[in-house]
Amino acid sequence: MKTPFITFEGGEGSGKSTQINLLGDYLQQKGIDFITTKEPGGTPLGAEIRHLLVEGEEDKMDAYTEALLFFADRRLHLTQKIWPALENGKWVISDRFADSTVAYQYYAYNKRLSMHDIDMLYQFSVGDFKPDLTLILDIDPAVGLDRSFKKAETMTVKETRNENRVLIFHHNLRQGYLEIARQEPERCVVLNADTDIETLHHNIVRIIEQKFGI
Ligand SMILES: Nc1ncnc2c1ncn2[C@@H]1O[C@H](COP(=O)(O)OP(=O)(O)O)[C@@H](O)[C@H]1O
Ligand SMILES: [Mg+2]
Repeated sequence: MKTPFITFEGGEGSGKSTQINLLGDYLQQKGIDFITTKEPGGTPLGAEIRHLLVEGEEDKMDAYTEALLFFADRRLHLTQKIWPALENGKWVISDRFADSTVAYQYYAYNKRLSMHDIDMLYQFSVGDFKPDLTLILDIDPAVGLDRSFKKAETMTVKETRNENRVLIFHHNLRQGYLEIARQEPERCVVLNADTDIETLHHNIVRIIEQKFGI
């Protein structure tokens, strides 16, 4: 049986990294062979692209360049990491995937790229492949950003290019994710992320157990 490709999506500080770590502990306990990974920067080459994307000025490149860099990173991620892991029978858990492009580059950026543009880039670099399950961590952006800035204070490299965008950007982003979930209810599950870490973890585990029959 094919192993699942599961993606986590959501705004800054919604708890994706935290929950992926906990899910990893859970899968390990169950004896499930898995990898966790992230976008952008899930591969060594991709890590170089990540620097360009998450550091520095908000407006340092236009939307098309940015989208191309994200898809270049995604293509590397698929060919060098995600597809090989799935072929080797591992579960793949990714912190962000293509829904981030739709949520950020389309909805949050106020449609600077059309859906047609994004679909074209998707077909070109990803083809018909898509996640088996996408968990969307939904949170009021004010709460998420507050968490995120607190976390950034403790880090040497400040990955705050997104966090620094105006609040309306983050509200559009949230609505974008909810719209994605409405359009693909089979694949996407929206979870309330404004709850304690353990509760959210249990909700995630319940969904995964139901969907994949663990
Ligand atoms: N449910 C939660 N309640 C309170 N704080 C949280 C919760 N989940 C994560 N955090 C904290 O918020 C910050 C951002 O979480 P993180 O998992 O890095 O979010 P993301 O990866 O979605 O940006 C971290 O410092 C983390 O410890
Ligand atoms: Mg994170």
